[in-house]
Amino acid sequence: MNSSLPIRVGIIGLGAIGEGMTQVFTEHQSTEVVAVCDVVEERARQRATDLGNIFWTTNYQELVNHPELDLVYVAVPPVLHYPIVMDLLKTKKHILCEKPLANSLSEAKEMLEKAEEAGIVHAIHFPLSYINNMKELTARMESGYLGKLRRIELEMRFPEWPRKWQKNDWIASREQGGFVFEVAGHFVQIIQQLFGKITPIETELEYPEDPTSCEIGILAKLKLEDGTPILINGISQIPGLQEQSISLTMYGTKGTLSLVDLVKLYGGQLGQEFAEITIEKDMSFWEEFINQLVNAIEGKPSSMIDFHQGYEVQLILEALRTPRN
Ligand SMILES: NC(=O)c1ccc[n+]([C@@H]2O[C@H](COP(=O)([O-])OP(=O)(O)OC[C@H]3O[C@@H](n4cnc5c(N)ncnc54)[C@H](O)[C@@H]3O)[C@@H](O)[C@H]2O)c1
Repeated sequence: MNSSLPIRVGIIGLGAIGEGMTQVFTEHQSTEVVAVCDVVEERARQRATDLGNIFWTTNYQELVNHPELDLVYVAVPPVLHYPIVMDLLKTKKHILCEKPLANSLSEAKEMLEKAEEAGIVHAIHFPLSYINNMKELTARMESGYLGKLRRIELEMRFPEWPRKWQKNDWIASREQGGFVFEVAGHFVQIIQQLFGKITPIETELEYPEDPTSCEIGILAKLKLEDGTPILINGISQIPGLQEQSISLTMYGTKGTLSLVDLVKLYGGQLGQEFAEITIEKDMSFWEEFINQLVNAIEGKPSSMIDFHQGYEVQLILEALRTPRN
């Protein structure tokens, strides 16, 4: 690729995350959004107008076949990741797919295999690694802050699911929604990145009466390769609770570290108080995410998370929710 020219990006899906990422791609000096697509015509037309009358369509095939795109970002609901990515792979365009990679393990496997065969960059949008708190947590762990790791716990509490700002038709469905599939995947990816392979042991899901609605609770036990236990404790629809909370805690023999609601990091070592570790808030993680994506497309060293990790996360998610093979 000629690195002096911006990477030409097409975006499929202009909902909650697609809209935000359109802004991120627009602001980044190395990328330029040149085509957008959404089934909601007004959404696609308006965004295209805002971006200077760029190409827009309501038919994703037209964007897939657009001749002047280097990269396509797929930001549609999970059941659509597979058909759209498989069509894109025929065109050899680079792909950034939203997480979760697919809506079943077999879909995820095929997407990974075909993307490898196509020889394209196949990135997946797991942005947590680029957040300052995660970088600090990783640095502390690597410097031996925890001592020997004893246990990892992921706790998720949602007063209601879907969350107030998330009223779309798929996020509460058993078919492709639920907080396990939607939220836990971010943390599964982080645990795998930090500690390697995870093996599920047992899962108990709590479901509402409506057979089409997603889970309202999960208790799960998993383990790392060395036997260190991982506990997942998640619950939604909690009367009286006002605020959601999500924490990932690592208990070690010498110290404890906890990432709380993504924006806070707590820690303490033997003889110290367990307290918030103040870290400068830095919103440039989006920029770093795109930098890594651009590096991968330009053939430079990159820490971009790709379909391999997407598949590894899917393996665990399918074991946690009612699996779709
Ligand atoms: N990486 C992250 O941090 C993160 C955060 C939120 C959501 N997500 C993921 O992003 C994806 C989208 O989530 P969302 O919250 O933006 O959903 P959303 O429902 O708000 O947006 C989806 C958009 O896709 C459009 N769409 C649906 N079918 C389409 C089709 N056939 N062709 C073109 N457009 C179509 C919808 O009209 C909508 O605008 C999901 O996979 C979700 O899990 C990732």
